Amino acid sequence: MSPARAASAARAGTPAQVSRTVTEITAETDDRIATGIAEFDRVLGGGLVAGSAVLLGGDPGIGKSTILLQVADALSRDRAVVYASGEESVRQVALRARRLGLASTSLRLLAETRVEAILDAAAVDTARVLIVDSIQTVQTEASESSIGSASQVRESAARLVRHAKASGAAVFVIGHVTKEGLIAGPRILEHMVDTVLYFESDPGSRYRVIRAVKNRFGAANEIGVFAMTEQGLREVRNPSAIFLSRRPDPVPGSIVMVAREGSRPLLVEVQALLDDAQGAAPRRVAVGLDASRLALLLAVLHRHGGVATAGLDVFVNVVGGVRIDDTAADLPALLAVASSLRGRALPADLVAFGELGLTGEIRPVPFGEERLREAAKQGFARAIVPAGNAPRKAIEGLRMQAVAQLQAALDGAF
Ligand code: TYD
Ligand code: MG
Repeated sequence: MSPARAASAARAGTPAQVSRTVTEITAETDDRIATGIAEFDRVLGGGLVAGSAVLLGGDPGIGKSTILLQVADALSRDRAVVYASGEESVRQVALRARRLGLASTSLRLLAETRVEAILDAAAVDTARVLIVDSIQTVQTEASESSIGSASQVRESAARLVRHAKASGAAVFVIGHVTKEGLIAGPRILEHMVDTVLYFESDPGSRYRVIRAVKNRFGAANEIGVFAMTEQGLREVRNPSAIFLSRRPDPVPGSIVMVAREGSRPLLVEVQALLDDAQGAAPRRVAVGLDASRLALLLAVLHRHGGVATAGLDVFVNVVGGVRIDDTAADLPALLAVASSLRGRALPADLVAFGELGLTGEIRPVPFGEERLREAAKQGFARAIVPAGNAPRKAIEGLRMQAVAQLQAALDGAF
């Protein structure tokens, strides 16, 4: 700080608070702790930020305790970490750690449901990282409501978040998403914490996706991909093609799209099934895609592609349990619908992506070239892409069809 600015600050009687330039601030080293689990660090935005509060939500049994035990183990090698469980005895947690092959000798476990007692223990251990499993099983003196109630969950979380801010320790809070999740589950905590992570998964699949739905310290929508194994959650370092079914022969109603989730491309299979409507009102069901958008897309398909789905139930599904939040799914979803309706399979080496407008135009999407390179890398040989995404230079191994209108895409695909 210049002497003049310091003097002026002192005159104002508030020596601590003076403005600083963006360069001054960003030059300070980011106080981030790497967990060493690369996929987890990625979702956090490049590691754990000291003093931050992170909510990890997901269905019961999906792997929340498992991943945070692994994270706790990794972090405890270089700093004090306390894992407080309100669900299991310390013996159970310790046995699980042993089964997972976790070797840390310094991770501290605590079976406790009183928030104040957890914070006392964290203070005694000068914990730099505190994990509370789960928010639905703890209670604070600040609330008289019963354990698991909305008000108890909120007050307990508020107490833990205050601790993170005051002590500079990073605090993880686990929250179960249940049928009643909207009332007393993680949802009501989202605005209180810095980072909100959710597990996504297909019930039958061993893959687990952790998505940052909110992150003050990184990109929202970043995903980390893991596989559940005997030794806990193993990171999938190159997940771009794990959500493909890779069947030998192409079948109607299936197409591969190149989505972009977080900061990397992801190839996923989009499936559609059309069948005679079973009720008076035909059903439009989308799993892994925006369901309200499906009705709109079907209207575009009818008006601008001449493909009618009235009187038919339409089911669209993204394989693998990953949720695609990308308008680039518009075109592949409609190609899958048309393919199912016509009973004609699309080529197995074809990928597509593109956003649809209400006038049937196919709009470009961000990172078109990166998507195409990934498709080529994964061995796909044909691509139907928005005209606005056609790369200036050819991509080796990929035959490209650039389309500006839905009709052209349908003609090209079939
Ligand atoms: P868990 O982390 O306990 O889920 P949550 O805390 O989200 O409720 O994960 C429990 C499931 O994971 C359980 O069904 C068993 C399975 N699992 C494995 O397959 N391998 C493992 O190494 C562990 C610890 C659990
Ligand atoms: Mg658990």
